[in-house]
Amino acid sequence: MSFKITDNTKVYIAGCGGMLGESVYQTFTDTKCTVKATDINLTAPWLSYADVSDYSEISKDIKSFAPDLIINLAALTDLEYCEKNQEQTWLYNALGPENIGLIANELDVPVVYISTAGIVDGKQDVYNDFDEVNPLSIYAKAKYHGEVFTQNHVRKFFVFRAGWMMGGGPGKDKKFVNKIYKQLKSGQKELFVVDDKLGTPTYTKSFAKGILEVVQSGLYGVYNQVCNGDCSRFDVAKEFVRLLGLEKDVKVTKVDSDYFKAEYFAPRPFSEKLVNLKLNARGLNVMPDWQEALEDYSKVFIEDLA
Ligand SMILES: NC(=O)c1ccc[n+]([C@@H]2O[C@H](COP(=O)([O-])OP(=O)(O)OC[C@H]3O[C@@H](n4cnc5c(N)ncnc54)[C@H](OP(=O)(O)O)[C@@H]3O)[C@@H](O)[C@H]2O)c1
Repeated sequence: MSFKITDNTKVYIAGCGGMLGESVYQTFTDTKCTVKATDINLTAPWLSYADVSDYSEISKDIKSFAPDLIINLAALTDLEYCEKNQEQTWLYNALGPENIGLIANELDVPVVYISTAGIVDGKQDVYNDFDEVNPLSIYAKAKYHGEVFTQNHVRKFFVFRAGWMMGGGPGKDKKFVNKIYKQLKSGQKELFVVDDKLGTPTYTKSFAKGILEVVQSGLYGVYNQVCNGDCSRFDVAKEFVRLLGLEKDVKVTKVDSDYFKAEYFAPRPFSEKLVNLKLNARGLNVMPDWQEALEDYSKVFIEDLA
């Protein structure tokens, strides 16, 4: 049942040009297996073009490579863009995973699909892998469709639910940590950060190692995979400012989500905290505490500031 990645293994990674793609590409190439990485956004020389929403194009590309494993990271990840571009979101974030799943079935190879903690409605405090979900935003609804299709129609699958992604550094990180960093780099002395949104940071470097570990276990299924511990956006900003050595120069001020309601208008759950119940039970949890992960991640920002 286990699936050993060897020098002869071929791994196809779709949507590999983003913040998680960077770490997944690195982790899998480090094993010496053969990797083909594609995206619609060619952010690195090792990427070639393929769109997961175009069945005939992606099918031809994957089949000509004949992989032993397919990893699908492709998605539109800007929640506000998704609210404004709903049809494109369904095509990329829901039809895309359907296409990948069907191709994996045809080739009889396993698929890795990345889902999100954002599929919960936040009415309970913490969610384990088995708790009911109820996606609120178009982004989350489409991602959840991808997850449900994968669970119901794909023979060999691993679904990983990620939380607040941290990774890719100043060049590729599209999310919270880099948004805070850009304000700091521009010399801002006061940051306004929400304390009424709770979640679990998810370090891409550890997340990629976790994918490798779980895939090799051969234990198919759905897994929460986030850093250990939980926090608010305010806690992350405060800790990041401290790690950059800027706590004396920069004030971090708590606000509630209404403060940003014009800019961040997509619905978001109050709490999207996950716990890695299954990974822990199976001895497969490689995720660090979020503070430890943020400390490691902040090194690239400290270098960039120097
Ligand atoms: N970022 C988070 O906080 C977060 C949290 C939970 C789960 N996830 C999931 O983790 C996975 C990886 O996301 P990420 O964090 O690495 O975000 P990312 O940096 O936005 O990477 C996603 C990549 O997929 C590309 N893409 C979009 N549509 C595509 C298509 N139709 N065909 C091929 N590639 C396409 C994107 O291109 P463009 O740059 O042109 O859009 C981008 O390069 C996604 O499935 C995402 O839903 C992310």
